Amino acid sequence: VSLAENIPVDIRDEGRTIEIQFWRDFCKSERFIDNFCKATPNPEMDVDVELFIKGIVATLNSSGATPRILDIGSGPVSMLSRSFVGQSVALLAADPLADDYRKMWVNSFGNELTLPVACDGEKLSSAFGGSQFDIVHIRNALDHVIHPISVLEEMIKVAKRGGFIIVHGFENEADAEGWDGFHQWNLSTEMNDLIVRGKNNARYSVANHFKKELRVLRSYRRDIHGFGKGWCGFVAQVI
Ligand SMILES: C[S@@+](CC[C@H](N)C(=O)[O-])C[C@H]1O[C@@H](n2cnc3c(N)ncnc32)[C@H](O)[C@@H]1O
Repeated sequence: VSLAENIPVDIRDEGRTIEIQFWRDFCKSERFIDNFCKATPNPEMDVDVELFIKGIVATLNSSGATPRILDIGSGPVSMLSRSFVGQSVALLAADPLADDYRKMWVNSFGNELTLPVACDGEKLSSAFGGSQFDIVHIRNALDHVIHPISVLEEMIKVAKRGGFIIVHGFENEADAEGWDGFHQWNLSTEMNDLIVRGKNNARYSVANHFKKELRVLRSYRRDIHGFGKGWCGFVAQVI
């Protein structure tokens, strides 16, 4: 990974300001309270990804294990908070803006919700240790980070061998959002691959870059009606 491709501090600062303003408004909305805090499960969580995760949890539960799941770039509340009714999981979340998010709203739901701890995706292994999680999940955030390949490296480190890496989010979000704020990377998918593109023609094939570390299970894309954008996803298993 070329550090020269890291996003400059002033652009990151601008991104942080925009992100905080977005969530400050969103945390006051009925949609946040109803969907992100109360509903079981969050109706905005992608059903296919959620069912895949629940299937793995069911398998591990049936052998007596309690799987550990990490949700990265979670926002103020993990969208998986209420996905596991009747199942046994340890769900943790991480987001660099966690401390700002905690000041924006009052959590009257206690332990029912999983709130993030403050951590950059680029520093997961020093915060959580290696080989800790059965599933490492990132939704609509891999393209918001300083360097997606560094974050994927860290996701792989904190995952157990045989654990799953799940990435999903908008397709080509930097192009769609005019490269403003945190939107400095484009994600897209090809057959069994996730493509990461940045400024100055930086381009990575995730399947190729991590061919020794990951077995790719699936990549996909679909149109989201009404948004004029695509949504894409990538699921892989740590070898
Ligand atoms: C659009 S929000 C997505 C929140 C939630 N996952 C969802 O799907 O609604 C993007 C999140 O990425 C986080 N983020 C920004 N830089 C990051 C980094 N270096 N590592 C991990 N997350 C980061 C932001 O703080 C923000 O909460």
